[in-house]
Amino acid sequence: MNLFQTSLPDIAILESAIYEETQGWSMQSFDEPAFHKALKEAGFPLPRTLIQDNHFYSKKGVLRGLQYQLPPHAQSNLIRVVHGSAYVVAVDVRRDSLSFGQWFGIELDAVSQRMLWIPEGFAHGFVALEDDTHFFCKTTNGHHKDSQRSLKWNDPDIGIDWPGFTEITISTEDAVAPLLKNSELHSEFLQGTTELKDLKVIGDKRGSLIALEQGLNIPFAIKRVYYIYDTLCDVGRGFHAHRRLEQMAICVSGSCNIVIDDGATRQQVRLDSASKALIMRNMIWREMHEFSDDCVLLVLASEHYDESDYIRNYDQFIKEVSCGKK
Ligand code: TYD
Repeated sequence: MNLFQTSLPDIAILESAIYEETQGWSMQSFDEPAFHKALKEAGFPLPRTLIQDNHFYSKKGVLRGLQYQLPPHAQSNLIRVVHGSAYVVAVDVRRDSLSFGQWFGIELDAVSQRMLWIPEGFAHGFVALEDDTHFFCKTTNGHHKDSQRSLKWNDPDIGIDWPGFTEITISTEDAVAPLLKNSELHSEFLQGTTELKDLKVIGDKRGSLIALEQGLNIPFAIKRVYYIYDTLCDVGRGFHAHRRLEQMAICVSGSCNIVIDDGATRQQVRLDSASKALIMRNMIWREMHEFSDDCVLLVLASEHYDESDYIRNYDQFIKEVSCGKK
């Protein structure tokens, strides 16, 4: 199996040898060891097992997409056109990726039998270039309705150069898909991540001022703000994780230490300045210690208070984190 890298990181074109025979031809369309070897040699991460085959049939001009599923149901797809021809597109929807929002497209057809490898974190779409086009798609995860998301196929910010058609047929669902800028394109791709941010201080001789603005330095929509103060120095707080909630914590006065744990690595962050913000995405275990007498810990939160979102048992947290990674 030959692998060709594309202009988009982690997206690859794959080719299997076609053996001409007097009665036709044959090819080994999928061979996991050869597939893994090709990915490994190209420095690509190895995917989860491809567990499902999906077959799509389209008439000329039928466009499907752009679709993707959120973790833990995210899908990697190996796409081949087994009859006819199609233009197949992948869009990087990994929010922490340098190529976020960029796309790659290629024409696949039943003659070359070339395949496109689209791993988790990419939306994909395809349009049939002729009648009677059949797509064959191997995937690592089955369809999961609640995790299914879509993006507008002709979003000008993505700017896909689809082949010219007099008529495009799309499903109602795909037609009403949001633009990238309006999508709740989700931080679930950032699940389990944290970031310590330096906030811009606007200072003059009168003192200092820091502005917190949703979408600028707060990377989520704020539904709740709370603050913790008058905490005794020898008291520990927290000792929980959140399934969906994202938070940003700032010690607007005094200091405290926050232990953050993504299930694999545990580290301690010291918040001792009103200009330091700790962003904690969902599925981060946190413990707060050593509150100074004057500590006021301000927390901005993406959800209303909801006890069912809490994981208060560490073993349960580890169980849920490893479930999501399977
Ligand atoms: P808890 O989340 O356990 O605090 P910490 O993480 O600092 O240890 O919350 C303490 C109590 O306050 C608990 O009974 C739930 C309640 N609470 C609310 O009612 N609303 C809120 O927004 C928060 C954060 C807590």
